[in-house]
Amino acid sequence: MDVIPLGAGFGAELRGVSMIDVASDHAAYLAVRAAFEEHSIVLLRDQHIEDDIQVAFSRAFGPLERSKVGSLGQGSFYGRVTNMNAEGKPVPPDHRQIQVARANQLWHTDSSFIATPAMASVLSARIIPPTGGETEFTSTRLAWERLSPDRQAQLRDLTVSHSYANSRDQIHPELMTPEQREAMPAVRWRMTWRNPVNGRRALYIASHAGSIEGMGDNEGKALLAELMAEATAPGRTYEHTWRAGDVVMWDNRATMHRGRPFPLDQVRSMIRTTISATDEAGLDAVRPDRARQAA
Ligand code: OGA
Ligand code: MN
Repeated sequence: MDVIPLGAGFGAELRGVSMIDVASDHAAYLAVRAAFEEHSIVLLRDQHIEDDIQVAFSRAFGPLERSKVGSLGQGSFYGRVTNMNAEGKPVPPDHRQIQVARANQLWHTDSSFIATPAMASVLSARIIPPTGGETEFTSTRLAWERLSPDRQAQLRDLTVSHSYANSRDQIHPELMTPEQREAMPAVRWRMTWRNPVNGRRALYIASHAGSIEGMGDNEGKALLAELMAEATAPGRTYEHTWRAGDVVMWDNRATMHRGRPFPLDQVRSMIRTTISATDEAGLDAVRPDRARQAA
């Protein structure tokens, strides 16, 4: 396997390894896992992409998350990120799926708003529009490492509240159904996530993060906005332009991402599988009720 950095200081393309290799060969899995822990984003190109293969690949990394209430593919292992209707045509611009796509264009990390957040997400391109529709990433590990030691000491153990409503309400007050609001109360996490393999910390923030414990609403939102802006400033991101056969896997503990706009009269269709975090992935130390951890 060859590891070719994507050029932004994080992320790497892996050559000479396939999704099927990872699903069927433990040594291949270990090599990809090590690259994932190190680079936070791994890209596999020219893959033979099928739902079953994507699930088998994803399962090698840990337990899979089921799609949330009210989403496309609800209750299955597949999340559909698409503007395509049942006839294979783009939905009209005022359709709910377009609002959902706009919410996906806010910087976020996946599933930070549920009780068991996501360690990693695997996204495959199924139908790619002729222009636009890139996915942009940033490293919240590098964002953390750029902060001064004093600043790190102030921030490290803050507790942040995350909710799906916080990101959806930025797009439209009725984007979430009453059923979804009921099903998804806010959850709380430490502001940093320590990777147990290499000990490197990352900011754990996102558009789902709405308030900081012990701070007023405005103060908390301002601090979150400042950290988000620092993490996503020009020159600090990697924008992935999709090709047919691409699969990207990212570390939700150490990155944020956002979808980029594309012409609404074009179809864009992606399939995501999601791997849940476990205590081995460092989840235990992110829980605010745990005692303060050693550096
Ligand atoms: C996702 C996501 C962005 C995109 O699948 O979690 O945010 O570009 N996707 O489709
Ligand atoms: Mn996402």
